[in-house]
Amino acid sequence: MGLVDGKVALVTGAGSGIGRGTAIAFAQEGAKVIVADIVVDGGEETVKMIKDAGGEAAFVKCDVSKATDVGATVKFAVDTYGRLDYAHNNAGIEGPMSSTADYAEADFDKVIAINLKGVWLCMKYEIPQMLAGGGGAIVNTASIAGLVGFQGLPAYTASKWAVNGMTKAAALEYAQAGIRVNSVCPGVIQTAMVERLVEATPELEAGLVAGTPMGIMGQPDNIAQAVVWLCSDRASFVTGHNMAVDGGFVSQ
Ligand SMILES: NC(=O)c1ccc[n+]([C@@H]2O[C@H](COP(=O)([O-])OP(=O)(O)OC[C@H]3O[C@@H](n4cnc5c(N)ncnc54)[C@H](O)[C@@H]3O)[C@@H](O)[C@H]2O)c1
Repeated sequence: MGLVDGKVALVTGAGSGIGRGTAIAFAQEGAKVIVADIVVDGGEETVKMIKDAGGEAAFVKCDVSKATDVGATVKFAVDTYGRLDYAHNNAGIEGPMSSTADYAEADFDKVIAINLKGVWLCMKYEIPQMLAGGGGAIVNTASIAGLVGFQGLPAYTASKWAVNGMTKAAALEYAQAGIRVNSVCPGVIQTAMVERLVEATPELEAGLVAGTPMGIMGQPDNIAQAVVWLCSDRASFVTGHNMAVDGGFVSQ
C-alpha cells in the first residue's frame, strides 16, 4: 500500500532534476502522475521511466508562464485521470548570474515570469479543480534562496522569497476549504540547474558544498520524499510551511 495510492498528482518541471524525482516518487507511492514540462524530450523520458517501473503517468507540454498552457494542463489532468489531488509547482530557472546593478531587465522579467508568476498561475488553475474535488494539497518549490540572500541571483532570490510568501497567503485562504499549501526549500541539489551554474562560475562548486553543513550535495529524491510526505495525509495538519531540505544550510 503506497502513501498516495489512487491519487492524481501534477508535477511541473518534471522533465528533469527535482521535478522528475518527485514524479517518480509519487508514482512509486501509488499516484497517477501528470508530467508537465516545457521540454518535450525530458518530460517523455520521465513518463517512460515511470511506466517502465510499472507506474502510471502522462506527459503534457506546458510553459508555466502562460495562462493558456497552465489552464490546458490542469484540464488535461482531469480529462486523463478524472481529478486533481496534488500539485508540485516546481518548474523554475536560475537566470544568469550577475550583480543587482548589472542585471538585465529582460532576464529579471523572465525569471519572475517563470518562477513567480508561473507558480501563481498553477495555483490559480489547480485550486478551483481541487475545490471541486473536495480538497487537495499543493507544494511549491521555493529555495534556500527564499530564506536567505544569494549574491549574484537577485531575480531568482526575489522570486523564491515571493513564492514562500505567496504560499503562506494561499495556505491561509484555503485552510478551511480542505486545501493545504506548503513550499519546499531545497538546498544545493545535484541537478542540471546546479551543473549550469557551476559551469558558468566554476569557483562556485566548492563553496556550495563547503557551505552545506552536511558537506555534500543533496539528490532530487531528498526533495521528492519531502514533497510526497507534505502532500500525503501524514501531513494533514501542516499548511503554510516553508520547509528547508538543505543539509543544514539555513541553520547556520
Ligand atoms: N538544484 C538546486 O540546487 C535547487 C535548489 C533550490 C531550488 N531549486 C528549484 O527547484 C526547481 C527545479 O530545479 P532543478 O534543480 O530540478 O532544475 P532543472 O533545470 O534540472 O529542472 C527544471 C525543469 O523545469 C523546466 N522548465 C523551465 N522553464 C519552464 C517553463 N517555463 N515551463 C515549464 N517547465 C519549465 C525545465 O525544462 C526543466 O525540466 C526550480 O524551481 C529551482 O529553482 C533547485
